[in-house]
Amino acid sequence: MPAVRIAGLGKYVPERVLTNEELARTVDTSDEWIRERTGIRERRLAADHETASTMGLEAARRAMSMAGVEPDSLDLILAATTTPDGLFPAVACLIQDGLNARRAGAFDINAACTGFLAALATGSQFIATGACGRVLVVGTEVVSRIVDWSDRGTCVLFGDGAGALVLEAAERGGPLGVVLRSDGGGADLLNAAGPCGRPDARVGGFHIFMDGRPVFKFAVSAIEEAVREALKVAGLSPQDVDLFVPHQANLRIINAAARALGIPPEKMMINIQRYGNTSSASIPIALCEAWEEGRVREGQRVALASFGGGLAWGAMILEWAPVGPAVRQAGSLPIEGTALVASEAPSISPPHLPHAR
Ligand code: ACO
Repeated sequence: MPAVRIAGLGKYVPERVLTNEELARTVDTSDEWIRERTGIRERRLAADHETASTMGLEAARRAMSMAGVEPDSLDLILAATTTPDGLFPAVACLIQDGLNARRAGAFDINAACTGFLAALATGSQFIATGACGRVLVVGTEVVSRIVDWSDRGTCVLFGDGAGALVLEAAERGGPLGVVLRSDGGGADLLNAAGPCGRPDARVGGFHIFMDGRPVFKFAVSAIEEAVREALKVAGLSPQDVDLFVPHQANLRIINAAARALGIPPEKMMINIQRYGNTSSASIPIALCEAWEEGRVREGQRVALASFGGGLAWGAMILEWAPVGPAVRQAGSLPIEGTALVASEAPSISPPHLPHAR
């Protein structure tokens, strides 16, 4: 069965920065409270013309460019989002059109903040079974459009953005262990009910509702248990994790889960201070920045973990393979449509690091 490598990563965040200080002028909160309770300093807000599909498309273009692949080589496009442009068409279809990826199937996956993990697991399966050679997986959200900006308990937490990965069949790499779990009995704790399930939402709009305390407690144990289970499937232990990239929902949740797992701070990827909780986009944005910062290398084991509305949660242990255009080895078959010979393959390094990996 083919392994799966991440050939390209891309992210897009809107220009507009909303700081805690600015928020404190509109609701009864403070920079100090938000930083101490959540770790967030600022978040990004989509401009009026931006949507999940426009931001996802930009992140996808960047990931495709890093992978050095043409749109027509994509077999499948998956978009994880809870804030689609409309109920249909799927955001993945709008991204397909923007890319002009004429051979690709496309559909959306909604598992709230765990959507990206679910999409990554799905895309990886399509490759591992041989059904697809190359899959684009996007996590993209305009959470700001479903936030009640008068509710200080939720409005301080969320932000907008998008991240994308190009997955392709390879000799090494990919998911070593995947765990996806759910408990729909927890729907009342965290939801954005409407528009089809609530006729009144057509008039009054609909917003994120969250009972923060129980969600917090649930999240810490859900992350710990899911990562332990995924590690067990992979035949590994927490000490084998080289980088932990959790869903960026609350710094205290992430730190508590990492402490319970025995994962030290230097092995954690944290960027919540700049973006807040971007739901399905948080893991691909964090993964993209981890790579840009040179924090992940070939052969390393990366643990991803997520939780959110549903309730839905999960974890994945990934083995990292080289990023960038495929290189055709003498005597081996290139990956269809894109492979370069070794001499023409550009050497890809994170932008901030002079060293080659
Ligand atoms: N500024 C100032 N005070 C606030 C704010 C605020 N922004 N928000 C709440 N408070 C107050 C409360 O009113 C309460 O006051 P009281 O004691 O007078 O009643 C006090 O602060 C403590 O409130 P708690 O809710 O206990 O605060 P807590 O420390 O739990 O932090 C938070 C709240 C940040 C929401 C936390 O519970 C949390 O992060 N929960 C999980 C959120 C999450 O990760 N959601 C999942 C993902 S979302 C998705 O899937 C779409």
